[in-house]
Amino acid sequence: MNIIGINSSGFHESSVCLVQDGRVVFACAEERISRVKQDKRFPNLALQAAFDFARLNAGEVDHVAFSFPHPWRACRHDLKLMLTGQRCVSAKNMENYLRNFAHPRVRFHHINHHLCHALSSYCMSGFDEAAVLVVDGRGAHEATTLWHAAGGELKLLETYDYPNSIGVFYAGITEMLGFEPLSDEWKVMGLAAYGRPTFDLSPLIRLNSEGYWVDGRRFFGRNDLDRRALERILGQRRNGDALNGRHQDLARSAQDACEQAMVALLRRVTKLTGSRRLCLAGGVALNCKANGELLRSGLIDQIYVQPAAGDDGTSIGAALGVYLELGLPLPRNPSGHTYLGPEFSNEEIERVLQVYKLPYRRVDNAAKAGAGLLARNRIVGWFQGRMEFGPRALGNRSILAHPGFRENTDRVNEAVKFRENWRPFAPSVLFEKAGRYFDDFYDSPYMILSFWANKARAAEIPAVVHVDGSGRVQSVKREGNPRYYELIQEFERLADTPVVMNTSFNLKGEPIVCSPKDAVQTFYTSGLDDLLIGDFSISKQPVQDR
Ligand SMILES: [Fe+2]
Repeated sequence: MNIIGINSSGFHESSVCLVQDGRVVFACAEERISRVKQDKRFPNLALQAAFDFARLNAGEVDHVAFSFPHPWRACRHDLKLMLTGQRCVSAKNMENYLRNFAHPRVRFHHINHHLCHALSSYCMSGFDEAAVLVVDGRGAHEATTLWHAAGGELKLLETYDYPNSIGVFYAGITEMLGFEPLSDEWKVMGLAAYGRPTFDLSPLIRLNSEGYWVDGRRFFGRNDLDRRALERILGQRRNGDALNGRHQDLARSAQDACEQAMVALLRRVTKLTGSRRLCLAGGVALNCKANGELLRSGLIDQIYVQPAAGDDGTSIGAALGVYLELGLPLPRNPSGHTYLGPEFSNEEIERVLQVYKLPYRRVDNAAKAGAGLLARNRIVGWFQGRMEFGPRALGNRSILAHPGFRENTDRVNEAVKFRENWRPFAPSVLFEKAGRYFDDFYDSPYMILSFWANKARAAEIPAVVHVDGSGRVQSVKREGNPRYYELIQEFERLADTPVVMNTSFNLKGEPIVCSPKDAVQTFYTSGLDDLLIGDFSISKQPVQDR
């Protein structure tokens, strides 16, 4: 059975997932292929990529499921118009596969948005029984939902309705700090490390031991864009205003409130379910600092956070939700990893390098070559295997650097990422060694939990420890990503540190690279020293010991 899951809410992060016979075989956000950041258009390019990956004809699709029940009605209407010839589409491939969707076997479904988030976490977690928390800006009407999952069934326990929403709260703070709401929340999280929790945010969010209440009237006036009430309370940083201590304190106060609200929800859902396991999803679940606090609360023993916790991940939940609609058993642990995007063979990569007439050379062992460059303190673009699904680069579309030199944060920020110098970089660390560097370490393959760096070891890896002493860890197992594991292992042999600095392979404001062409373009429009792409290496200048 072939099921296509689609997130196309019209808000952000359109994506496609393909489930075949209970296995999640492909998932990709539209932005990665269209090259439009957070692309919210119908994901026709990602859909074509799914078909290409699986060598599937659109006529072989049995079910199509959408992860948002309301806004997609317009999309469905447009699809009907296209399919009945009442409306033309400009892209020929779009027209072709939509025509194929008219195959009589195809059935359309639309699955509740929060259920999609919940399924995307529970089914992928490998847990049989767990408490499930979904926390985002909003679904159809929900902003937070508490679930109990057991034996392949999910039961909704409690709901917080929009705008009583932690996502609304955090997005409002993000906007008041002069950043892009529903996009730059992680900048607030990074800034928070510099501040003190001095703001009284009780007019905006009230907290108790088992829940929260966000006063939506303070966030939206006559309409969703009216922020005057919020500005009266917090003031707004305007474009061009320098960030100061007040902004840092506001970020810290908001981050603390978010963490307290999440722990309160955890206390509530574990009380309702009696579970010591948690599955987490929704945009707020991308807050790795808050996730770390959940783990450190002592309320749970195990946690799984869907790596594509934002709305892109709901395409997975939509596809899996079809099983519920059909009365079939839910697929359990249908993937085991998040390298679910497109991949490119050495032949395809070499063709691109030849077309651009680049001075490349083939290497015997890309992992060893990469480690050698990192040990010489070069900044390396690392493009291997299948692209990650979700916002984090996890060693297949990454920029890597030596973690032992504090100045490497500035080097990468200024030469490659062109981004604010206060934002932290993350460590990728061998799973077996992670406990030496990070206290209370728990397996974190998706870089979605943060831990406190071990004080005695932090000085070894200053480029990946944030100003407050935390690190957003990716733990790497050999079976999870053999080539990346080998690179870090070889780096340890050369530099005596089982850690590399890992940031996403993109320029500021652009999506993470997807194709060899994207990688080459980013390489030559940045300050990267070297590119290791498949089994090929390109250097801008001769390798010299620094
Ligand atoms: Fe959502």
